[in-house]
Amino acid sequence: MPHTAHAGTPASPLPAIRFDQVTKTYRGGLRALDGVSFDIQQGEFFGLLGPNGAGKTTLISVLAGLARASSGRVSVLGHDVVDDYAAARKALGIVPQELVFDPFFSVRETLRIQSGYFGVKHNDAWIDELLHELGLTDKAGANMRQLSGGMKRRVLVAQALVHRPPVIVLDEPTAGVDVELRQTLWQFIARLNKQGHTVLLTTHYLEEAEALCGRIAMLKTGRVVALDKTTALLSGMASTMLRFKTDDALPPAVAELARVTGRIAQVKAHDATEVEQLLATLRQAGVRIEDLEIGRADLEDVFLQIMGGEGSAGPGAKPPAEAAAATAQSLEAGA
Ligand SMILES: Nc1ncnc2c1ncn2[C@@H]1O[C@H](COP(=O)(O)OP(=O)(O)O)[C@@H](O)[C@H]1O
Ligand SMILES: [Mg+2]
Repeated sequence: MPHTAHAGTPASPLPAIRFDQVTKTYRGGLRALDGVSFDIQQGEFFGLLGPNGAGKTTLISVLAGLARASSGRVSVLGHDVVDDYAAARKALGIVPQELVFDPFFSVRETLRIQSGYFGVKHNDAWIDELLHELGLTDKAGANMRQLSGGMKRRVLVAQALVHRPPVIVLDEPTAGVDVELRQTLWQFIARLNKQGHTVLLTTHYLEEAEALCGRIAMLKTGRVVALDKTTALLSGMASTMLRFKTDDALPPAVAELARVTGRIAQVKAHDATEVEQLLATLRQAGVRIEDLEIGRADLEDVFLQIMGGEGSAGPGAKPPAEAAAATAQSLEAGA
């Protein structure tokens, strides 16, 4: 195969997904993907992270055959998504970011139709299992248009899995969904991964990817800016963020690490020991602090660190409340 750009031992099995120099320029000239290359191995739980607009959905659309790459190639278990579309598509179960469905069918009908689309016959036992696993059993007869957003999302997950695809792709499945669904979904997907399914998850919640994914690629304006094992990527990164309010001047040792906006100071720390030291320094300097919060640095902070920028100030910085909400969400999602 003409994939010389990728190193790999000759005996290594086919990658589950191979992105090879994928570029996508939308009409109007916007370059959403700019030379994206990486492999996802069979059995991996792989996270694709990036802020809104990074190109995650575009990459998934190219993978799914819904959009055509301007250049480059994508394959699924060795099947090119253009030249060998049917085989590639059959190997994939894709949960799209947008809620797309036909309002006239019931949940069960939707899943039967999708089975038929993939040529899977006598699929009711598996459909029943999917309905059960996703908490949809009592909604089986409901029309799609009667379902809440969270329930529709569950049906989309079931729909993606109806033909038992070896490779499962979820595009921001937890954006704006309830805690219960997040937990149900992650337990189920983690189990499928343990059974050997490859999982590709896109998210802009760093903590979600951290909890679930063995490797992470970070995408920013259409380029992969980092790719590594999750532990390697996040180790040594100042991923804890201390936030507090004060009317007092910060001692120099803290001030040089802090991002200050009015009365609010934010200071990064690598671990609990550093948090303790920071608080001790503040106490010794007589700084009175209010509304102390300890949260996780958000994805934007991590990007800034990874790309060599230091994390202070910057118009992209999120307000503490938003970052804290993302943290709370990810804790609920817990592994
Ligand atoms: N159909 C489209 N036509 C033109 N531009 C698009 C289209 N879809 C996405 N884009 C643009 O491409 C970039 C990447 O978008 P997207 O892949 O949706 O990012 P993400 O999923 O990471 O938020 C954004 O700047 C977005 O506005
Ligand atoms: Mg998207």
